[in-house]
Amino acid sequence: MEERKDVLILAIESSCDETAAAVVKNGREVLSNVISSQIALHTLYGGVVPEIASRKHIEKINQVIEAALSDAQTALSDIDAIGVTYGPGLVGALLVGVAEAKAIAYAAKKALIGVHHIEGHIAANFIEHPDLEPPFLSLVVSGGHTHLVRVKDYGKFDIIGRTRDDAAGEAFDKVARAIGLGYPGGPKIDKVSGEGDPEAIFFPRAHVEDAPYDFSFSGVKSAVLNYINGCKMKGEEYSRADVAASFQKAVTDVLVANAMYAAEEYGADKFAIAGGVASNSALRRTMSSACAERGVKLYYPSPVYCTDNAAMIGVAAYYEYMAGVRHGWDLNAVPNLKLGERYE
Ligand code: KG4
Ligand code: ZN
Repeated sequence: MEERKDVLILAIESSCDETAAAVVKNGREVLSNVISSQIALHTLYGGVVPEIASRKHIEKINQVIEAALSDAQTALSDIDAIGVTYGPGLVGALLVGVAEAKAIAYAAKKALIGVHHIEGHIAANFIEHPDLEPPFLSLVVSGGHTHLVRVKDYGKFDIIGRTRDDAAGEAFDKVARAIGLGYPGGPKIDKVSGEGDPEAIFFPRAHVEDAPYDFSFSGVKSAVLNYINGCKMKGEEYSRADVAASFQKAVTDVLVANAMYAAEEYGADKFAIAGGVASNSALRRTMSSACAERGVKLYYPSPVYCTDNAAMIGVAAYYEYMAGVRHGWDLNAVPNLKLGERYE
């Protein structure tokens, strides 16, 4: 029998504030994963400044790709396809990656595959879990998204729930700023929460009427702001660690409650969490015990594959490639790209 040839994907990610490139073999094996983070730069402004992000991407992208190829000990000629995030994200940031991917694919005569960023986040779970295969349920929690997704097959998704306002990561970032922890807030809240009491202050858990899988985080965010303003007006000190821990608990309680309701309703036996907030220790802990109670197997990526990276884009691109997806030279950045079935 003829041995199947390995498929090597060079993947590029530039949708927000990380310039990233990776080489992925057969959709599951990461040969290299290079990330140039702009976090330090944006910290000066308390959040991502889109124009600065685009400029930094254009400065870094060639070096990052060169490093990804050399770390993987792979020549461009050995690559089968170029995978690139083309949405959702910041348009100027996405355009850098898309233009770069098109230029390389055109010059080196490679297949071009546009990837949905959220599909990439979900696919990050395939890297370290060879046993994970669809169908499964996924909770995607990042700075820009909070989605409950039914992964019906590779590249086939149904969004069953979403946030009505802020994304979970966005709420973490805003609350962190309000209590003086700075950007990016998620990891900082996670850390100081370890010293606080999650039961110290009760913050509301929002349930969206008639939409049991949807989320809303603007209420809890406002409640935290009101609480700290109230303390300031009364001239009282508040415990940053208690506020952080109580807020984190309010957010993770809702995420886990909706996720478990979906797991029960859909009879899921596998659940994967994804996105930057999936590295939150309280979320991992609470999800682990909630899944264990129900006999559901929980998957999550290592922190480096939770936050933005190109390896996850390479994994998703592989499954698109195997399904025959090829994009043309008219591929463009789509800032509000929807997650669908084999989108165009
Ligand atoms: O997936 P990601 O890198 O970018 C987007 O696609 O948005 O997610 C970044 C988000 C930020 O909001 C960051 O604060 C949050 O993930 N985050 C965390 C943690 N690590 C990153 N949130 C809570 N706990 C963490 N440990
Ligand atoms: Zn992301």
